[in-house]
Amino acid sequence: MLQFEKVQAIQDTILAATIGDKEQLEEFRVRYLGTKNTIKPLFAEMRNIPNERKKEYGQLLNAVKQSAETKFQEASESLTAAAANEVEPIDLTAPSEPMELGSRHPVSLVLNQMIEIFDRLGFVVAEDMEVEDDWHNFTALNTPPDHPARDMQDTYYILNDPTRLLRTHTSSVQSHVMMTQKPPIRIIAPGRVYRNETISSRAHCQFHQVEGLYIAEKVSFADLRQTIYYFAKEMFGATKIRMRPSFFPFTEPSAEVDVWWGMETEADKRITKGTGWLEILGCGMVDPAVLENCGIDTEKYSGFAFGMGVERIAMLKYQIDDIRLLFENDVRFLKQFKKTAVF
Ligand code: PHE
Repeated sequence: MLQFEKVQAIQDTILAATIGDKEQLEEFRVRYLGTKNTIKPLFAEMRNIPNERKKEYGQLLNAVKQSAETKFQEASESLTAAAANEVEPIDLTAPSEPMELGSRHPVSLVLNQMIEIFDRLGFVVAEDMEVEDDWHNFTALNTPPDHPARDMQDTYYILNDPTRLLRTHTSSVQSHVMMTQKPPIRIIAPGRVYRNETISSRAHCQFHQVEGLYIAEKVSFADLRQTIYYFAKEMFGATKIRMRPSFFPFTEPSAEVDVWWGMETEADKRITKGTGWLEILGCGMVDPAVLENCGIDTEKYSGFAFGMGVERIAMLKYQIDDIRLLFENDVRFLKQFKKTAVF
């Protein structure tokens, strides 16, 4: 019968239909599920169907309606899922996001500058262990176990091993270098040191030092003074330095060096404690006993050594009044050094 064929034809087109986008989906809806859909008129044909086939015809129509609904449902679900997975197309001509550059830590900035200044004078970088033995840190440097100078530096010893410690100064690198190299020796030793200090705005239990050591024939105190003067001039733009007598077990004579900072502003007065001078380092002529301990001929060679705290220099240079800021890694603090960063 004609009606049956029509219904069957519609069923076939529904099953074969492809719905690839929203427009096709809408078209499909209007055609098979809308108010004027193509299935509706076939329901009206019911009255022309002989009674004995009415049931069969009705079932066929319902099946067509059903498959239109299923098809619509499935297509609409898969289109929504595809839309969710869709990636925004990349615009290759778009300008890039501004990239935030990091900054060097003020301690690194100062350390690098120090290395660079001494490099110009021919000093090369030497490094050694932070977990050190007692001999290299103290005994070789004229500080035997019962020496009162050991009290000057509160030492962290390694648990259950009184011969091992965290180095208290980078002077320990001097001992290693003198034991393994022949003069002329001209090194600086930057690195971390440890002391059992109560942490405050002025002291920390871990900090950095730069050690300098120069050993050759006929090295004099004048050489030491001139080296330090050059450093102070390059680092601080200082025009005047002064040396005050001091004591270290491994140097003789020993001195502490102050640079002239100035006394003009209130800040100058505060930083220099009302004197105009700033202490920056300790130094002296290497004690012959130290040279002998490390197998260097004292008839032929002499030398000088100096040591300074990197944090102290950084605090002076950038006018930072609390050493703890240098260890907290608060980005609000660190960001201020961006402009001075060297890449
Ligand atoms: N090691 C000394 C200190 O840590 C500094 C120093 C080094 C002094 C070399 C003289 C010579 O205080």
